[in-house]
Amino acid sequence: MPQNTLTVIDNRTGKTVEFPIHNGTLGEPAIDIATLYSELGCFTYDPGFVSTASCKSEITYIDGDAGILLYRGYPIEQLAEKSSFLEVAYLLIYGALPTKDELHGFNAEINRHSMIHEALRNFFNGFHYDAHPMAMMVGVVGSLSAFYHSELNIKKKEHRRISALRLLAKMPTIAAACYKHSVGMPFIYPHNDLGYCENFLNMMFSVPAQPYEVNPVTARVLNLLFILHADHEQNASTSTVRMASSTGANPYACIAAGIAALWGPSHGGANEAVLKMLADIGDVKRIPEYIARAKDKNDPFRLMGFGHRVYKNFDPRATIIRNACHEVLQELSCQDPLFDLALELEKIALEDEYFITKKLYPNVDFYSGIIYKALNIPNNMFTVMFALARTAGWVAHWLEMKADPLQRIARPRQLYVGLDKRDYIPIEQRRAQG
Ligand code: ACO
Repeated sequence: MPQNTLTVIDNRTGKTVEFPIHNGTLGEPAIDIATLYSELGCFTYDPGFVSTASCKSEITYIDGDAGILLYRGYPIEQLAEKSSFLEVAYLLIYGALPTKDELHGFNAEINRHSMIHEALRNFFNGFHYDAHPMAMMVGVVGSLSAFYHSELNIKKKEHRRISALRLLAKMPTIAAACYKHSVGMPFIYPHNDLGYCENFLNMMFSVPAQPYEVNPVTARVLNLLFILHADHEQNASTSTVRMASSTGANPYACIAAGIAALWGPSHGGANEAVLKMLADIGDVKRIPEYIARAKDKNDPFRLMGFGHRVYKNFDPRATIIRNACHEVLQELSCQDPLFDLALELEKIALEDEYFITKKLYPNVDFYSGIIYKALNIPNNMFTVMFALARTAGWVAHWLEMKADPLQRIARPRQLYVGLDKRDYIPIEQRRAQG
């Protein structure tokens, strides 16, 4: 019998089918069940895709038990210490670290596309002054597709490449504009003599009325956070980008779909929710009350920033951010009682039987909000910051998928548990449901 197959015996019919097992370069193998339906006439049922590999990918690898995260093979710890966000974006997109010249060229191209069309700026005026910045991001990023008709033939490699770069380049401009609109201040144009993070900070915080200088500590920390958030294999938002893209939808629409998925509190919205939770707790004395609530099956409350679908040991990004948090608060001379509260909450939760047995550890978002707060980024912009950084991963996955000749429309099936066929009832004969 050939190795690397899984034999399934259908107890209903006695039929035996062998399914190939694919081995990746690292990580768990995957059973190829593409022929399951044609062979056995049944589907697999896996809510939340807990045991399902949706694609082959060369971009990012996670070992959830060992707490390992690799971008194109490079450990996140090394990239966080030595690299820059744009270099990491290049790595994710092209698969290799750039040479000096390549990085220079990439930087120049990103700069060339950093402005947004003047007409697009008017879109912001359609939003109410207190619109959530993520609501604006979804709308404005999606609407980019209305501006680049001539380079939107996704069958052409060059059109795909230029769309990916436009998204990466314009995201800081759009994100800062969302903020400026929400505080009623004039938009600031990008400055191509500034680095990616410096440029974003300048667009966020400078005003035409007075000079502004980017604090290098702030830019350095932002660079770190963007690297840590740049990609995370087939998470919910990246899978959403891939799903939307499988229909042939344009890249701007696909990334807008990813932004919408990221917004949820179970995903990128968690960083905003963590700070709200810490503010609600307010005092270390109240931590036991919140721990008890998190453990109570009848209470929907969860400790935000705790737990992860893949990491069952620790989230390596959380370890890096936790250390950075100490440094940043010190360097910016920022005493934040919420950080002390977070440390205490982490300590108590990590010693608690419930969190130990369920392998619930702080994730990347447990500390990122505290750092963003120290950088004066308002709470409702936290998830926007995540979206900005994750755009690098989204476009890398989009490009990878588009280049895959085996790519088909993503069309899952279902286990139907509704009513059997029945006849239409005229309205006068119906009885109220409730
Ligand atoms: N607080 C309390 N209990 C929790 C928590 C938490 N934060 N997270 C999981 N649990 C419990 C669940 O109640 C469940 O218990 P049960 O087995 O008794 O039913 C068990 O742990 C497993 O949880 P699931 O929800 O099944 O795990 P899943 O992998 O589907 O969800 C998720 C992972 C969404 C991250 C979850 O841990 C959570 O809601 N965390 C809080 C939100 C958060 O921080 N999200 C950010 C994720 S990281 C990111 O997107 C960047």
